[in-house]
Amino acid sequence: MSKALICGLVDRYTLEIIGRDWEKLEALKAQYPKVEVGLLKDGFDIDGKNIILCVKPHALDSLLSLGFKGKASSLYSILAGTPLQSLKKIAARFYIRAMPNVCAKINSSATTLTGDEELKSEAMEIFSSLGSTTWLESEKELDIATALAGSGPAFLALVAQSLEDGAVREGLRRDIASKLTSELFLGSAKLLKESTPNEIKESVMSPGGTTAEGIYTLEEQGVRASFMKCIKSAYEKSQELKKS
Ligand SMILES: NC(=O)c1ccc[n+]([C@@H]2O[C@H](COP(=O)([O-])OP(=O)(O)OC[C@H]3O[C@@H](n4cnc5c(N)ncnc54)[C@H](OP(=O)(O)O)[C@@H]3O)[C@@H](O)[C@H]2O)c1
Repeated sequence: MSKALICGLVDRYTLEIIGRDWEKLEALKAQYPKVEVGLLKDGFDIDGKNIILCVKPHALDSLLSLGFKGKASSLYSILAGTPLQSLKKIAARFYIRAMPNVCAKINSSATTLTGDEELKSEAMEIFSSLGSTTWLESEKELDIATALAGSGPAFLALVAQSLEDGAVREGLRRDIASKLTSELFLGSAKLLKESTPNEIKESVMSPGGTTAEGIYTLEEQGVRASFMKCIKSAYEKSQELKKS
């Protein structure tokens, strides 16, 4: 995720990449000569800096144990399920939580943000380099949005794989099924920008037709309730992570 951020930000901001592995930092410098790189060390000086935190949530404690020096100007965090309260253990004037998704790799992330209003427009601008941005009023909304848009690419990947496997099972060649599935997602995403899911469904589902038969099978298997429960359980997991 940090590479996606570097790629999106490198031509618009002065970046200093701080990590713990010198070889990886050198490789980053070779790939993006404009960035500065530096090793993370005890008492690292964060005074007046704008920081984007990109480690895994469980790594926050080991970062805190380094004991930073000074007070950052702003702290942005992309750590899933990690509340502002925990981030405040790092001294900064303002705090933002951002939740991009893996589509950031192709500049198509659906990123949600929340936190201190003072940083709202700056945060929206920074993360627009990864795709679209949506400001949310609470951390609860951000955690629900994490279940939808953060984890969503994995859920949709499962749908794509199942549809593809279904077509192969009926006798379609894998490469053709794979190409058609990706075109199906691309086209449907564009349609969803201008139509509701219900409009799309009704426009294809003719009386007594093949689509109606497929929809009946999905409803009989409880697919819709399964997806709703999927969002519920992913959201609940983020609340559990918060407590651990
Ligand atoms: N992947 C996604 O789709 C996605 C979406 C939204 C948000 N996020 C969030 O983005 C964050 C990063 O996820 P990722 O998928 O990019 O993970 P990742 O590829 O494993 O990257 C984690 C980075 O953190 C560094 N790191 C780990 N422990 C550290 C420590 N103790 N001190 C310093 N650096 C440390 C790693 O450095 P080394 O290379 O040296 O190990 C690596 O550069 C997570 O908090 C995740 O919740 C991810």
